[in-house]
Amino acid sequence: TGCFCYDPGFKATCSCASAITYIDGPRGVLLHRGYAIEELAADGDFDDVSYLLLFGDLPDRKAKALHSARLVAERRVHERLIHFYSGFLSNAHPMAIMVGVVGALSAFYHDKLDVFDAGDQVAAAYRVIAKLPTLAAMAYKTAVGEPFVYPRDALSHCGNLLHMLFAKPGAEYVVDPLAERALEVWMILHMDHEQNASTSTVRIAGSSEANPYAAIASGITALWGPAHGGANEAVIRMLEEIGSVDQIPAAVARAKDKSDSFRLMGFGHRVYKSYDPRARILKSYCHELLGKLQREDPLMELALELEKVALEDEYFVSRGLYPNTDFYSGIILRALGIPRDMYTVLFAVARTVGWISQWREMISDSTRVIGRPRQLYVGPAPRSFAAVDDRA
Ligand code: CMC
Repeated sequence: TGCFCYDPGFKATCSCASAITYIDGPRGVLLHRGYAIEELAADGDFDDVSYLLLFGDLPDRKAKALHSARLVAERRVHERLIHFYSGFLSNAHPMAIMVGVVGALSAFYHDKLDVFDAGDQVAAAYRVIAKLPTLAAMAYKTAVGEPFVYPRDALSHCGNLLHMLFAKPGAEYVVDPLAERALEVWMILHMDHEQNASTSTVRIAGSSEANPYAAIASGITALWGPAHGGANEAVIRMLEEIGSVDQIPAAVARAKDKSDSFRLMGFGHRVYKSYDPRARILKSYCHELLGKLQREDPLMELALELEKVALEDEYFVSRGLYPNTDFYSGIILRALGIPRDMYTVLFAVARTVGWISQWREMISDSTRVIGRPRQLYVGPAPRSFAAVDDRA
């Protein structure tokens, strides 16, 4: 009964009301809690923006100190959880490991959690935001066969992540402030993006009152695909396959060919039909970072040329297909020495702030209902069960 509309992919359906993130797709505007992403990326730090997304306002000095201290205090993970990593093959994709170990947080904190208790919600938020970098670094160390590096309290959120990724026993590792700030800006740009596939997944999983750690694990699963967060890894793979500027026209021709499943990775967006503001910031940050590091990356030249050729092509312009956040994001991570299969993991680490803020907004909404879409049934009409010998 009732009136339903058929909207595959939720192209025209608002699944919730939210006060966290605003996007004006045609104009290329992105605001978090009313603040422009450009300002947050230029002047904010990880602790400012994570507090803003989670609690609705920028913290004053005292609130920020408490927030930072609470994040630092939650960085460690239970030693028994660390043993999970030894069960994975060293060639396992780190995203596969993340799906498992983040879901396993539920096994460690399940009994203590009442999803309707405001204090428990905030405790869960601090746990996931603080522990995801530790779990991600351990996934990386598993892949490269190095011992785990424990968190260091004196370092910032992103400085500590670089330390856990790159420090090795017996060698001094000093976090480069340039790399630390580059990763921080990158993280701020990836923290939230309203009702994308992974955030919607977290909200739907959480709407059943499931444990938030399990809901975040389901978000990681949705993020992994190349149409979503997996695009940052896929862009670098695509650029490497294109290989040289003279191969760009052939790649663009393939992307336009409807009989070929190949798409330009890092191009197009469900909501932006103009330049993604995050891609604009990442692009200029790539220039700045590579310049400061006095490093050239042939993939940067290739990306710039690919963008130029595509944006001169009627196919891309008429469909509103512009670079999205994933187009330049891998180039920054490459410059920081982060391997390709960790790109989507770092996206998950950053997006965890948005996921848990959205989960908290959803679960504390008194008008909340379980996420339960309807379908358009296209199967057989009613028919009678036939005995096995009577089946045609
Ligand atoms: N290359 C070539 N053609 C494309 C592309 C592309 N990257 N993206 C969309 N199109 C075409 C598509 O074939 C369709 O053409 P037509 O109207 O002739 O059938 C038209 O543009 C509309 O595409 P759509 O698939 O209906 O659009 P959508 O809103 O469902 O999909 C998208 C959005 C992001 C999944 C898609 O643009 C895409 O696959 N892009 C490549 C993957 C990618 O970069 N993903 C990252 C998304 S943004 C950040 C994130 O979520 O992590």
